[in-house]
Amino acid sequence: MTGSVPTTIRARLLRSSAFRLGALQAGLFALVALLLFAVTWWSVRNYVVAQVQRAIADEFGEIEAMPAGSRADAIAGMVAQAPQGPLYYGLFDGAGHRVAGDLSRAPSRPGWSTQTQDMLAGGRQASSLGVLVHAARLDDGRLLAVGRDRRSADRLDEELQEAFLWAGAASVFLALLGGVFTARSYLRRVEAVATAAARIAAGDLGVRVSGSGRGDEFDRLAQALNGMLERIQILMESVRQVSNDIAHDLRTPLAHLRQRLESATRAATDVATFRSAAERALADVDDVLATFAALLRIAQIESGRRRAGFCRVDLSGLLDSLVGDYAPLMEDQGRPLRTQLAQGIRIHGDHALLTQMFVNLIENSLRHTPPGTPVALALERRASGCRVTLDDAGPGIPAEARSRVIGRFVRLDAARSTPGSGLGLALVAAVADLHGAALAFGDASPGLSVQLDFVLQNSPSLAAPAARPFPAVDPIEG
Ligand SMILES: Nc1ncnc2c1ncn2[C@@H]1O[C@H](COP(=O)(O)OP(=O)(O)OP(=O)(O)O)[C@@H](O)[C@H]1O
Ligand SMILES: [Mg+2]
Repeated sequence: MTGSVPTTIRARLLRSSAFRLGALQAGLFALVALLLFAVTWWSVRNYVVAQVQRAIADEFGEIEAMPAGSRADAIAGMVAQAPQGPLYYGLFDGAGHRVAGDLSRAPSRPGWSTQTQDMLAGGRQASSLGVLVHAARLDDGRLLAVGRDRRSADRLDEELQEAFLWAGAASVFLALLGGVFTARSYLRRVEAVATAAARIAAGDLGVRVSGSGRGDEFDRLAQALNGMLERIQILMESVRQVSNDIAHDLRTPLAHLRQRLESATRAATDVATFRSAAERALADVDDVLATFAALLRIAQIESGRRRAGFCRVDLSGLLDSLVGDYAPLMEDQGRPLRTQLAQGIRIHGDHALLTQMFVNLIENSLRHTPPGTPVALALERRASGCRVTLDDAGPGIPAEARSRVIGRFVRLDAARSTPGSGLGLALVAAVADLHGAALAFGDASPGLSVQLDFVLQNSPSLAAPAARPFPAVDPIEG
């Protein structure tokens, strides 16, 4: 059991793409080291051989320059001075017999060659070594050969080989080690995301992926995932809310309906009474269906799907036509409708939803205010976009209830006597949010003042995606 955990980690490590990348890198490293070694060895060796050749040629030139008669003595003197090399000399007559020097044998041909030199100890051959020899026939017909042992070049070979072997092994080891470390740190961070995903899949939607704070690609991934989770959580919450609302708030009208039908079945004695009870029941059912439709509409708006159909909407024109629709009605009710609408303002949005939103607000200003009180609608440009204001002169909404009234089915006590289901402002809030518009309730003293602020498309306030995910207003055209 204890051994199984590290084994799993090791197995995962070996399977990880970062480790495979590290191993590949180590292989490449080894190849590069080998290439580097070959090139260095080749050029250093050439350099050393050239040095040896130059030393031989200098020596050869010196002897060649001597008078023919004194060469043998000079060679004998030089051999006596350095009997163990590194330079070896040989002066051979026409038959190939050595006249002077210590080269073991005559070169087979003039020019550069390599041959073995016998090393004597106590007058007997003890060992042999390779010498590089230059030979040429002199003016007196003799063959002069000067050689130098290759020990320095061979030793260099060995040392270079050894040095490169160590350096190569160390770099491959370091590359592998780097691969393991990189793979481990990548694996750790991928594991964190996978663990969070597994917990979310198990139903814990509150889990968030934690980042390192370095702002690297994993942090950006974590941020994007957390943003997505935030959204999913909001949607799930909204679905839960809708189910709760349906369960709680539709019970009452359905119970009424049932009661009405029950008492009609029990008490109605003639067809006419039965018919009128059935008609009232039908109206009740229509109300319930309308509430259902409104709830589903709000849920759909909150899901954000309607954004796909966004297009340019002439906000000035939309409000103008609403004023055209409501003005006659309000005139009949003796309500003054004051308007101040800036022209040519276009926003990016959903025409039908925006219309529904303003209808709900206007309906509220008619429904929840005393007859004869005025209503004022304004549209104005602002530095960051545009603002729609709807003021009435009714009782208004108390400051402490302003955040509450956008909830589903919320109706204040003052509205008890008026018809309605308390879904109007919930839809207004959902549409405003969909358009990235800020909805605020204020005091029109007296009355309610509703303000909707649409922001410009490239406004910095849109930078935070969770807060205001969508641009609302096209740059205003004059
Ligand atoms: N202009 C207003 N003046 C005073 N109170 C208001 C005004 N608008 C809304 N309210 C209060 O806010 C509550 C919620 O409004 P909302 O529009 O959501 O529901 P409703 O108008 O009652 O019903 P409906 O779903 O038919 O619109 C209202 O019941 C009312 O108490
Ligand atoms: Mg309403």
